[in-house]
Amino acid sequence: MSEFTGNHILTVNQFNRDAIEKVFDVAHTMQPYARRQKRTTVLDGAILGNLFFEPSTRTRVSFGTAFNLLGGEVRETTGMSSSALAKGESLYDTARVLSGYSDIIAMRHPAAGSVAEFAEGSRVPVINGGDGANEHPTQALLDLFTIKREVEYQGKGIDGLHIAMIGDLRYGRTVHSLSRLLCLYKNVRFTLVSPKELAMPQPIIEAIENAGHQLTVTEQLEGNLDVDICYQTRIQEERFPSQEEANRYRGKFRLNQSIYTRHFQSRTVIMHPLPRDSRAEANELDNDLNLNPNLAIFRQTDNGVLVRMALFALTLGVENLVTKYERDVIWHSNKSSD
Ligand code: CP
Repeated sequence: MSEFTGNHILTVNQFNRDAIEKVFDVAHTMQPYARRQKRTTVLDGAILGNLFFEPSTRTRVSFGTAFNLLGGEVRETTGMSSSALAKGESLYDTARVLSGYSDIIAMRHPAAGSVAEFAEGSRVPVINGGDGANEHPTQALLDLFTIKREVEYQGKGIDGLHIAMIGDLRYGRTVHSLSRLLCLYKNVRFTLVSPKELAMPQPIIEAIENAGHQLTVTEQLEGNLDVDICYQTRIQEERFPSQEEANRYRGKFRLNQSIYTRHFQSRTVIMHPLPRDSRAEANELDNDLNLNPNLAIFRQTDNGVLVRMALFALTLGVENLVTKYERDVIWHSNKSSD
């Protein structure tokens, strides 16, 4: 049993450095199961309610994959129109009903604060898979896990990190949650690059300043930046008041190999929560970066499974039983891993 057992995961504000290290330690132990080198059935009989009321590829599928890899079953609800929410049912009632069918629930919803409201009606732990422009705590944890691994490889830690966050910092919930987690570390330098209209919200700026971190706010990339992590984001068009307004910013923050070479160091790690908008008019992370060894975007998505397995194991209190219910696999993948 840990401080996680039976609790919701709704915001990064629940975490301190010790709790983050606990998640990362458990995530490391999940590697053989995530790579299908071994099986564990520690969650045999358990059911995940995976409720996604907003589009998702990696968060939805990696929650489901993580739960399956621990031996549990997944029941999915996708889209508002296929749920009784479309008939006016409250989040509270939906939570009371669905928590009767599940042992744990992962949920994404377009309204800020909706997952916390849902959790009030739930009799099982609820994990926030993204609530509007507000938070995406599990993405922030997998991003931080990735940052730690990437900079450790260069002999560094998260303390003293220099991170550039680029693009839509107003509506991009991943940068909100990641910034708050980074406030728990020491001497972090933030370079925030966005148009004024898409600037990081003031409460997060204040959290960065109150943590004593160095902060540079600019509207465009300038000069050669001594940056460890370049964290690129997508223009979150679904959160803009109109498509015309979103179009104004599309394509303004492209990153390709030549821009990378001009503004960053040869060691700078490139991250993006994905999806990247690869349409010609946006092309925010060009395919010509695909062979750049510092492009960590697909290591982020792989790490997402490890971190979500760890969160399930901790929240359901089985983190110390995973090896007890371990067995060999019959089918072996020939796929190479990064
Ligand atoms: N990063 C992320 O949340 O991706 P999805 O929208 O595909 O889940």
